[in-house]
Amino acid sequence: MNKRDVLGFVDDQLEELHDANLYNEIRVLEGAQGAWVTIDGEEKLNLCSNNYLGLAADEDLGVAAKEAIDEFGVGPGAVRTIAGTMSIHTELEKTLAEFKQCEASVVVQCGFNANLTVIPLLVGKGDIIYSDELNHASIIDGCRLSRADIRVYPHRNTDALEKMLQEDADHKGRKLVVVDGVFSMDGDMADLPRIAELCEQYGCISMVDDAHGEGVLGSHGSGIVDHQDVHGRIDVEMGTLSKALGCVGGFIAGEARLIDYIKQRGRPFLFSSSLTPAEAAANLAAIKKLMASDELVEKLWDNARYFQESMREVGFDTGKTQTPITPIMLGEAKVSAEFSRRLFERNIFAQSIGFPTVPRGEARIRVMLSAVHSRDDLDLAINTFEEIGRDMGVLD
Ligand SMILES: Cc1ncc(COP(=O)(O)O)c(C=O)c1O
Repeated sequence: MNKRDVLGFVDDQLEELHDANLYNEIRVLEGAQGAWVTIDGEEKLNLCSNNYLGLAADEDLGVAAKEAIDEFGVGPGAVRTIAGTMSIHTELEKTLAEFKQCEASVVVQCGFNANLTVIPLLVGKGDIIYSDELNHASIIDGCRLSRADIRVYPHRNTDALEKMLQEDADHKGRKLVVVDGVFSMDGDMADLPRIAELCEQYGCISMVDDAHGEGVLGSHGSGIVDHQDVHGRIDVEMGTLSKALGCVGGFIAGEARLIDYIKQRGRPFLFSSSLTPAEAAANLAAIKKLMASDELVEKLWDNARYFQESMREVGFDTGKTQTPITPIMLGEAKVSAEFSRRLFERNIFAQSIGFPTVPRGEARIRVMLSAVHSRDDLDLAINTFEEIGRDMGVLD
């Protein structure tokens, strides 16, 4: 072995991941996203993507992206605060704010960065963050970056949250309550009216990560704030353009003064170049498409209802979902992994999720439904799930 093998620890880490069955084998798609995708030269029914509305390969978005390349070139050329803000960025932000019914919005490179941008600007050392135990990794990292104290409360347990707020009632610093709107592993939702009420009562800033709500919930897919009718009562909305909206990018929407402040002090905004013109234009086209028609959102929900009801009739447990994210609860990680392997053999691509992403004994296959799935696609999935379920003794 090289005497100066300073990266030797990486081999040990990788071996540990293999031994614990936690090593990720990354599948490669040999073409565009869609209801069906090509993997290893074979067509697979895709039940894994966040492409809720099928916009990832939408023709209109493609045309908008190509036109933007012709007009603006391929790169922004600088960070937003120096020379990288183009009119396509500001048009996107203006339209996004309209879509979210907020005063203003600011776009950054991705949803992950949106959380890293805004949370450290809301709170800092000596302040307190209250965070749902199942919040997304990007919220957790944003909270850690802020250096505020982090108090984690049990999933969706607003009574426990209130108890913490009562305990900290005399705290002099700022307080932030931050939640995922839709929790990505279970498909359940935060109770925003209750959270807004608690924040109003205890003087906290409220923030929601609407990554799985945009394009899915609310009128024309405008998100969870609209769905739960709490407009004006949630101080900060963060979202992503990489799921239902089909492209890539993250954003923060809220009061104009907050957005102005983020543009002055948000580190990923200040120190990293922004979306390419093609991405900005594709996102803009996606939002305009949603504002013009809710046909795709309706189709997504029709598919979700049909699939979930059929799977329950067959005898599967679909957990606590309230959205198109559909966990098929299978218990042990070994069973779930074997189930997913058998589905893949039969050309159905649906991922198994086990510990540590979800608690031990709660392994599941997470089915992500999309407006692009046809009834035939869904029937094929339901029948194949049923046959494998009976074969493996998961169903009676
Ligand atoms: C709840 C939540 N927040 C943020 C993100 C990050 O979004 P992006 O992929 O745009 O970085 C994700 C993506 O997995 C997510 O599920």
